[in-house]
Amino acid sequence: MKIFLDTANIDEIKLARHLIDGVTTNPSLMAKETGPFNNITREICSLVNGPVSLEVVSTSVEGMVKEARVLAKVHKNVVVKVPICWEGLKAVKVLAKEGIRTNVTLIFSSNQALLAARAGATYVSPFVGRLDDIGHDGMQLVGEILTVLKDFKTQVIVASVRHPLHVTQAAILGAHIATVPFRVLEQMCQHPLTDIGIKKFQEDWGKVKKE
Ligand code: E4P
Repeated sequence: MKIFLDTANIDEIKLARHLIDGVTTNPSLMAKETGPFNNITREICSLVNGPVSLEVVSTSVEGMVKEARVLAKVHKNVVVKVPICWEGLKAVKVLAKEGIRTNVTLIFSSNQALLAARAGATYVSPFVGRLDDIGHDGMQLVGEILTVLKDFKTQVIVASVRHPLHVTQAAILGAHIATVPFRVLEQMCQHPLTDIGIKKFQEDWGKVKKE
């Protein structure tokens, strides 16, 4: 399973770029940053050797397609994030015909994923954490979507990841990608027994005669 970083923060991307296969952003992540949108997106694309999802905010088909064409010209790595909705599906179909890759976002049901895949989405992003937050089972949805889309080329990005267990479960289910916040990537690397082990090896190395 590939790992994308779910952030628009340049410092986080610089720290993690050797470990990640792509980046996903959204307007809320962009709003946390101080620089202008165009500068941030160009810098992210120059740092990451893989897909970089940038989201449209228009609500009409024409608006989404127009925004998507501009975003796609920023860099060859850009994937245009489009929300699942009636207009979004139509926009995805137009963009697919033009060879512009899309990540259909805010997926909360397997029927939404099916419609997105049929429209030609490159990726679909089920939001597992937001489902868990309201007492549903986000990972169950991922399993369903992987079954429903098994004959499509569309790849499943497990999004709204809250903790390392989400990543493990996504990988076991066979998801193509998990997009993780920087904090979760750090947590994935950590284990208290590893810390204790490193400390003990250092202490014991100090006791070894070197000559
Ligand atoms: C990624 O594509 C999504 O925009 C992101 O994972 C949403 O995460 P959140 O539910 O923590 O905002």
